[in-house]
Amino acid sequence: MAKLAPSILSADFSKLGEEVTRVSNAGADYLHIDVMDGHFVPNISFGAGVMKSLDCYDSAPYDVHLMIEDPDKYIQDFVTEKTEFITVHQEACIHLDRTIDHIKSYGVGAGVSLNPATPVSTLENILSKVDLVLIMSVNPGFGGQSFIEETLTKVKKLVDIREKMSYNWVIEIDGGVNLKNAKTIADAGVDILVAGSAVFGANDVEGCVKEFKAII
Ligand code: DX5
Ligand code: ZN
Repeated sequence: MAKLAPSILSADFSKLGEEVTRVSNAGADYLHIDVMDGHFVPNISFGAGVMKSLDCYDSAPYDVHLMIEDPDKYIQDFVTEKTEFITVHQEACIHLDRTIDHIKSYGVGAGVSLNPATPVSTLENILSKVDLVLIMSVNPGFGGQSFIEETLTKVKKLVDIREKMSYNWVIEIDGGVNLKNAKTIADAGVDILVAGSAVFGANDVEGCVKEFKAII
């Protein structure tokens, strides 16, 4: 069974605490924390302070997605007792191997992400040491975009590599995931589905989380 990570990027920021408790109580497995710096992606979201303000709420663990340049400067800021994964972009890391070690040094799971146009082959020399591979199924920067089907071929490649090499990282997908395509995505071998607008834009947010969980 795949897991669901609602992205708080699409939540109502004026009542974020209530929003995260709501989705977590409904069965969300992680809270996906989208951090954007206005450089690596053409949008600014929020930083570690906002994430840490959620620590006192009852919530699922954090799955941090850093869409920022020079992530090493900020990794430590995102380490909390609730942080399960910190994911950086391959495209943003000149010394990716060092950055992965840096994340792991705090005892949290280290993830690496690929933009839609970046091939899986660019990860060949890092796959033996990561905990999560995040396939972007939209060009990162904004919620509410359409799923790019082609990215599922990358998921299939990863599933093959993982089996062949006996790796045990999880595969995550992010962008344009909704109740209609969730089953196809989970069936392709994705372990964690991120969904922002589909969850927080639903009329019945709790019901939507439950529906996702029943499908995947
Ligand atoms: C995109 C972010 C996503 C985004 C997903 O840059 O990384 O996590 O919030 O939003 P939806 O599910 O609306 O495409
Ligand atoms: Zn994300």
